[in-house]
Amino acid sequence: MAYQFKIKDITIKGKVILAPMAGITSFSYRKFFKNFGVGLTFSEMISDCGLIYNNKKTLDMCYSDGSDAPLAIQLFGGSKESLLKGLEILENSNLRYDILDLNLACPVPKVTKNNGGSSWLKDLDTMEDAVSALVKASKKPVTAKIRLGWEENNVENIAKTLERAGVSFLSIHCRTKKEGYTGEAHYEALANMKNIISIPFGVSGNIFSLEDAIKADKITHADAILVARGGIGNPLLVKNINNYFDGIDDIKTPNIEDQTRYLFEYVDLLVKEIGEKRAVSVLKGIAPKFYSHFSFAKNIRREITGNINSIEDLKNIVATITKNNV
Ligand SMILES: Cc1cc2nc3c(=O)[nH]c(=O)nc-3n(C[C@H](O)[C@H](O)[C@H](O)COP(=O)(O)O)c2cc1C
Repeated sequence: MAYQFKIKDITIKGKVILAPMAGITSFSYRKFFKNFGVGLTFSEMISDCGLIYNNKKTLDMCYSDGSDAPLAIQLFGGSKESLLKGLEILENSNLRYDILDLNLACPVPKVTKNNGGSSWLKDLDTMEDAVSALVKASKKPVTAKIRLGWEENNVENIAKTLERAGVSFLSIHCRTKKEGYTGEAHYEALANMKNIISIPFGVSGNIFSLEDAIKADKITHADAILVARGGIGNPLLVKNINNYFDGIDDIKTPNIEDQTRYLFEYVDLLVKEIGEKRAVSVLKGIAPKFYSHFSFAKNIRREITGNINSIEDLKNIVATITKNNV
């Protein structure tokens, strides 16, 4: 049987989860990745204050028509009270989501200086009090995204505290706040996690290849693997990891035509979601990643970032450069 596990009463089909990424995992990105088999998707991090002030951009970031389900909306904020208000607004809206996820991981100063994101990891009593209240108030299962700690690894205490607070799943980025996004991901810090907590958890950090996923799984025995930066421009990574864990002998390396097909599937969804002008700006960052494993990677990145003002421009650049390289 294909691999699956449960977050409370929600079945997660597949080993791979699409990690939340601000500025990237909007509805179209999640829908696109759903076709490659992610078992759960996360919204970008959603500001509780944005919800409280009825900010249109914040509300748009929560949109889903269900085709990216199961979906966790990830809330961030710096106080129990504001998070509870944010949750109340979500619950009273007609937004479609399955899980409330709490961001206890973001290292960005703009967030931590307001006591949000990873700064919750500095005081576990305060964190437990806030998370327990949110679990009590939420009609949907509550999950949390954490790091190993603020400055030092304290992940076992953090995980135990969150389980006690009633959280149903943990996504664990295997770096401290201090380590940001660089250097090794410390999978070994989760080696004992299955003896520490009985809720399921997912491992995050430096998953760029099937080999990385296998290594993270062997060391941590995690229920799920979170694909973040490694999936940008490489959606087949998700399918390959899921196939491996399902025992399906079908691991593919995409060719140029495959990558172009995937890119324009995503482009179509993105344009539908945010219109051509904004899509062009997002694509300057994302489109070149679809070709980063080919010899012309630098050239196509330079052309796309410097010379596209429309989707037509993108199509022309891709057609010209890829034609000369097949
Ligand atoms: C551009 C970017 C935006 C991110 N935004 C979020 C976010 O909104 N919420 C969150 O919990 N993690 C966020 N993350 C962290 C990722 O979910 C993931 O844990 C991290 O990138 C480590 O995985 P990786 O090394 O495989 O990329 C973000 C990461 C990146 C690169």
